[in-house]
Amino acid sequence: MADKFKALVVNQESENFTREVKSIEHSFLKHGDVLVKVDYSGINFKDALILKNGARLVKEFPHIPGIDFSGKVEESKNEKFKSGDEVILTGWRVGEIYFGGYSQYAKVNGDFLVKKPKEITTRQSMILGTAGLTALQCAFVAKLTREELLLGEKVQDVIVTGASGGVGSMAVMILNKLGCNVTAVTSKDKNHEYLKSIGAKNFINTSELTKDPRPLDKGLWDGAVDTVGGQVLANVLAQTKETGIVASCGNAADIKLNTTVMPFIIRGVKLWGINSVNISTVRRNFLWNEASKLIDFNLLNNSIKEISLEEVLDIYPKMLKGETSGRYIINVNK
Ligand SMILES: NC(=O)c1ccc[n+]([C@@H]2O[C@H](COP(=O)([O-])OP(=O)(O)OC[C@H]3O[C@@H](n4cnc5c(N)ncnc54)[C@H](OP(=O)(O)O)[C@@H]3O)[C@@H](O)[C@H]2O)c1
Repeated sequence: MADKFKALVVNQESENFTREVKSIEHSFLKHGDVLVKVDYSGINFKDALILKNGARLVKEFPHIPGIDFSGKVEESKNEKFKSGDEVILTGWRVGEIYFGGYSQYAKVNGDFLVKKPKEITTRQSMILGTAGLTALQCAFVAKLTREELLLGEKVQDVIVTGASGGVGSMAVMILNKLGCNVTAVTSKDKNHEYLKSIGAKNFINTSELTKDPRPLDKGLWDGAVDTVGGQVLANVLAQTKETGIVASCGNAADIKLNTTVMPFIIRGVKLWGINSVNISTVRRNFLWNEASKLIDFNLLNNSIKEISLEEVLDIYPKMLKGETSGRYIINVNK
């Protein structure tokens, strides 16, 4: 193991916020009982916010961001893991209050790690990352919760907002694979071909869902995955049919939601919050094992951009402006 390794470090000194890829020593890593040699990380919307200014999520500086990573255990003081195990980390506030995956080595609490299913590679696990795990949660809630848990009618027509994004694009693919007729909401007409190739059947421009919603609109959707919040979510709720479930996971447009109780009390619509950060290890293991069945990595491959730690610094501002599409994975050893 080399004495020094590369990491992207952010720092805040009074008003001055800096980000820099630099060489650091192992003693810099201060949390956790399992040392992982990182293969890949990813860039999620939350990572972009943290890279901008810490987003009030980072409490101590200097700090290593990166809310996801995959790699191989190098050393472990945790009985659940041994050297050589291939592992995945998403959430648990790693990259926020604990050092994250924008580093060639990461040290974390072993209870945060899951063993990588053998059906997927460490690279593929980061093609999914938090975005994929969240999309899996959303799709299972919007479709299978109504059909299997609530013994409801079949979920056929579904809508996914922010469809070109990490969560949105993966939700399109998963819901299509689960047999739904997927309508993708995107602000980027140029992405229709790509979204079609991963399973979208119909398209709506985001601008059509930013009007002030009526309390109830024509019911169009059996289920929904919303990644943007605000007016778009309010319109989706008003357009959801009887007993439909709307899985809300994001706020790419707005944290506010201005709606009425009508979809809930007249149609029995359910607004189901999704949080991927603290879900239990049991559910994580279940979802990661489903991933290989529901994700066609060959189809995603064309839209994956593999970037270096240095390149992250160019990409995150574009992500914050909604100018990126698909998934960026970070090869920390590039
Ligand atoms: N709850 C959780 O556990 C969890 C987990 C992961 C992510 N999230 C949240 O989910 C959201 C999406 O995350 P992500 O990683 O997929 O981000 P992303 O890759 O940046 O995708 C966001 C997408 O939302 C759309 N969008 C962006 N700005 C918008 C705006 N002002 N108005 C309307 N649409 C806009 C764009 O889609 P188009 O280009 O198609 O228009 C963009 O591609 C974020 O808010 C993130 O924080 C939550």
